[in-house]
Amino acid sequence: MTSTAANPHETLAHLRQSSPAHQIPIGPTAVGWLITRYADVKRALNDPRLSKQALSQRTNGGSPFPVDVRKAMSEHMLNFDPPEHTRLRRLVSASFTARRVEALRPRIEQLTDDLLAGLDGRDTVDLIDDFAFPLPFTVICELIGVPEIDREAFRGWSNTMVAGPAAPPEQMYQAVAATADYVADLIGRKRAEPDDALLSSLIQASDAGAGLTADELSSVVFLLLLAGHETTVNLIGNAVYVLLQRPSMAADLRADPTLVPDAIEEILRYESPVKSSTLRLTTEPVTYGDITIPADEIVIISLLSANRDGDAFIAADEFDPTRTDAGGHVAFGHGIHYCLGAPLARLESQIAVSALLRRYPELRSAVPLDELDWRPGILMHGVTRLPVTLR
Ligand code: HEM
Repeated sequence: MTSTAANPHETLAHLRQSSPAHQIPIGPTAVGWLITRYADVKRALNDPRLSKQALSQRTNGGSPFPVDVRKAMSEHMLNFDPPEHTRLRRLVSASFTARRVEALRPRIEQLTDDLLAGLDGRDTVDLIDDFAFPLPFTVICELIGVPEIDREAFRGWSNTMVAGPAAPPEQMYQAVAATADYVADLIGRKRAEPDDALLSSLIQASDAGAGLTADELSSVVFLLLLAGHETTVNLIGNAVYVLLQRPSMAADLRADPTLVPDAIEEILRYESPVKSSTLRLTTEPVTYGDITIPADEIVIISLLSANRDGDAFIAADEFDPTRTDAGGHVAFGHGIHYCLGAPLARLESQIAVSALLRRYPELRSAVPLDELDWRPGILMHGVTRLPVTLR
């Protein structure tokens, strides 16, 4: 068995070379198969024999949460296969198209400027806590309709929930239960007093017979709230981390902001914010090269590894925003579960990075970059803190 915690790129390169699939520990007791090669990763992400639904059914039996809490948080598109997946995704997909997201640009720019203005006058800040986190968090809360007054509590629960097995079980339990209570209460409040945000329109659709159960409604709020910011914080953080190591590249982006979108695309490939896909379960034996994974086994698909695979990308370990093959990255997944929020994540991070570079041309790291701590667990790839000097 192998662990990918210490130095993911080096470890993953070794795993990619030695075998197409490796058994790794997932949490304290379970074991899963890690897929690391680009071609296998793309195939696995689009393979109906790797089921989300079969996994939910199996793990629900061992879930530590009471059945009502579990159902209120887990009946969302990322836990289903077609046709349920198609139905659940269709209900919200219209809100996340590139066109709908582009309409949010002025508001995101405004929020970005306000956050940066709040940093003025401070010499050293933690770019994660003070900027990379609050921006996507505020955007997704506004999009869903989470009142500002409730956001601080939610921020704490959300941090605990994405820590996964790294968080003590009782803390995890409390965070999940508190969030479930909160979402139920919020749905009640929005039903009584609708606004023009996404949750109110989902409630109306659900009440009008759109085929969304109460558990599906609260679960989609859970999914969007978590997926909508815990990932983008890593993209913004990783972008700044990479640029702090490359001051002349940062200067180029500052001088010509039209270069930023390509740079963000290369960050997505080079330091992918989500290390691996969510877990899947084989419904029949599946073969990768000389390894056959039996039926009923957990599979984890490494996006970070695929994006550094030399068989798919020229000079894969080089950061090069001018490369022409970056668009093939799988940082947002692939196939039917391809990230619904990709246009939003791209827009937020492009605005965030451009504005940060423009406002603080002398931005520097306040600590040696190789001493930063990275988030634990098999899912997220991002630094926990990023102390910087603004001027
Ligand atoms: C840099 C930021 C982001 C990254 C790297 C990212 C990555 C991913 C990945 C890899 C998946 C597929 C997981 C799998 O197949 O197991 C996914 C799915 C998803 N993401 Fe994102 N995500 C980001 C931001 C967002 C945002 C901002 C939102 C919401 C507004 C969002 C909503 C979703 C949803 C709803 C799914 C499930 C799609 C489905 O099951 O059909 N994500 N994301």
